[in-house]
Amino acid sequence: MYKLVVLISGSGSNLQQFIDHIETGDIDAEIAAVISNRPDAYGLQRAEKAGIPTVVLDHKQFIDRQSFDQSLAQIIDSFTPDLIILAGFMRILSDAFVTHFSNKLINIHPSLLPKYKGLHTHRRALENGDQEHGASVHFVIPELDAGTVILQGKVPIKADDSEDSLAERVHKIEHIIYPKAVKWLANGDLKVKDNILFLKGEKITSPPVITLEDG
Ligand code: GRF
Repeated sequence: MYKLVVLISGSGSNLQQFIDHIETGDIDAEIAAVISNRPDAYGLQRAEKAGIPTVVLDHKQFIDRQSFDQSLAQIIDSFTPDLIILAGFMRILSDAFVTHFSNKLINIHPSLLPKYKGLHTHRRALENGDQEHGASVHFVIPELDAGTVILQGKVPIKADDSEDSLAERVHKIEHIIYPKAVKWLANGDLKVKDNILFLKGEKITSPPVITLEDG
């Protein structure tokens, strides 16, 4: 069975999608563990409710990033996952960590990468007067938000949007594209070789895009 480890820091609404899609049989995988760096992350309760093992690794108990990342890597390795999913994990990971899990570590970023790497993506999209915004599922490489993009979700920006209303719409598309990308990886439809993506055997030069029409 294809094994996932999901890393969270907060609400875990994307985690919930994976749980639900596995339960209905849409994603053929199992979540071996959910790991949170925050003891109070609500996502831990979601995992417990679904009978998934949880681990809390509080970064505040570590003297530096390197020692935290080393412990985190050891814990992840103990579950022998095929894929490690960052789902609202609010820690920058060291190069050594990322390299260790090369091609097995994915993230979702709330923008249409390569636009708006880093923080405050919704605000920046609004300030620039963009007509559309979205989210990107991508492989993680040492450079922040720069790995190969697997799948993107687009949402329209409406004239009366606030940061919050836009964030909510982006979250909706995240909940569609993240499970889909994980499904493709779990069932072998999507493969990556030398940073080139192959979807069902076809080389893809620009990532597939799903658009949220009404939201
Ligand atoms: C998502 O918006 C994601 O883009 C960002 O963190 C948020 C996670 O939300 N990296 P949730 O914890 O899955 O609800």
